Amino acid sequence: MASGKLNPRCLSLVLLSVLAVASAEVFFEERFDDGWEKRWVKSDWKKDDNTAGEWNYTSGKWNGDPNDKGIQTSEDYRFYAISAEFPEVSNKDKTLVFQFSVKHEQKLDCGGGYMKLLSGEVDQKKFGGETPYSIMFGPDICGYSTKKVHAILTYNGTNHLIKKEVPCETDQLTHVYTFILRPDATYSILVDNVEKQTGSLYSDWDLLPPKKIKDPEAKKPDDWDDKEYIPDPEDKKPEGYDDIPKEIPDPDAKKPEDWDDEEDGEWTAPTIPNPEYKGPWTPKKIKNPNYKGKWKAPMIDNPDFKDDPDLYVFPNLKYVGIELWQVKSGTLFDNVLLTNDPEYAKKLAEETWGKNKDAEKAAFEEAEKKREEEESKDDPVDSDAEEEEEAEEDGHESDSDSKSDSDSKSEETEESTGHDEL
Ligand SMILES: *[C@@H]1O[C@H](CO)[C@@H](O)[C@H](O)[C@H]1NC(C)=O
Ligand SMILES: *[C@@H]1O[C@H](CO)[C@@H](O)[C@H](O)[C@H]1NC(C)=O
Repeated sequence: MASGKLNPRCLSLVLLSVLAVASAEVFFEERFDDGWEKRWVKSDWKKDDNTAGEWNYTSGKWNGDPNDKGIQTSEDYRFYAISAEFPEVSNKDKTLVFQFSVKHEQKLDCGGGYMKLLSGEVDQKKFGGETPYSIMFGPDICGYSTKKVHAILTYNGTNHLIKKEVPCETDQLTHVYTFILRPDATYSILVDNVEKQTGSLYSDWDLLPPKKIKDPEAKKPDDWDDKEYIPDPEDKKPEGYDDIPKEIPDPDAKKPEDWDDEEDGEWTAPTIPNPEYKGPWTPKKIKNPNYKGKWKAPMIDNPDFKDDPDLYVFPNLKYVGIELWQVKSGTLFDNVLLTNDPEYAKKLAEETWGKNKDAEKAAFEEAEKKREEEESKDDPVDSDAEEEEEAEEDGHESDSDSKSDSDSKSEETEESTGHDEL
């Protein structure tokens, strides 16, 4: 784990880079090189009922660098809980950047790929779903409806979900998720170094009661005119308007040649809707000159709002953890970072995910091709069986067809018999 300040001798090489990175502090960095097992503690959570899953130390089935390993969930229908400790840190007056990469090799239908930051003292052997956390961040997928990046902040003992939708990646490749929290209470969420969401802690989470509320005492004044349109008082009903009949005799109708007035009575043309008829008269509408707009209660300061200038502060961050339930395993985590420097995080993402992503994609496509080839190799047997099944089904279909044919025939016979009787 590289922690602490960068080597001062490196910094002195170029003045500009000194200025750019002089303030870079890395609180935690884990690339899962050799020795990672000494830094991470596997929790005993769920071990008693044999539902604690094993982690696989691997670069996965496809990757851009077989030597760049991470940790991957390896058993289906299992709980996973693992954490690492770092020297306690507060982000007061500092930007906080939490970043990691995640790859769902299993074509995830429903499950999370998020990580947590924990504060204070935590018994890592007991770390689990009930352990309080400060921040939970990362992708969450379930069916078609949930494909989002979670960003949950714990404030005053309550977990608050982000109110904005942040879409996550859903393919089977590595992606980098970055959460940036700034001392001005703004935040950004990046996926693969591209900003997907940004805003304020005040507006995008309900951490505090709202600053302003509608005045509960306010009432719409009696003389408030909120009708946007009114009937035009100048408009008058045209003379003879009500004399226009709704229906008129069809001018195209002709008395049938074989019509016999004596026997059939006097012939009258059938009526049709009158194209001149426009319905009951209503005056046309005009803009109301006295329209005041929709009435809204005035906003007042919320008496329950008390600002917290430390809204963004997590004063004693100390652990990073993964706590998941997985139906289908295969989620691989790597390159976990906690720093105060977004530029450092961006560079790390470029040097890892950025450097390997094309080769990883090529390896994935190769693996997919192999899988498809193997499937089609198995196929001939399958498709023969399918064809037989289909032929059988066809036979059934024609059976039922002929049955329904004969049914309708017998119906016809019955009908014709009835006619004959009449
Ligand atoms: C670990 O991952 C590698 C690469 O995908 C795989 O070949 C191996 O079978 C996995 N081991 C376990 C125990 O799941
Ligand atoms: C913190 O929580 C307590 C108890 O739930 C509540 O009384 C208090 O108002 C909360 N404070 C803030 C700032 O939300």
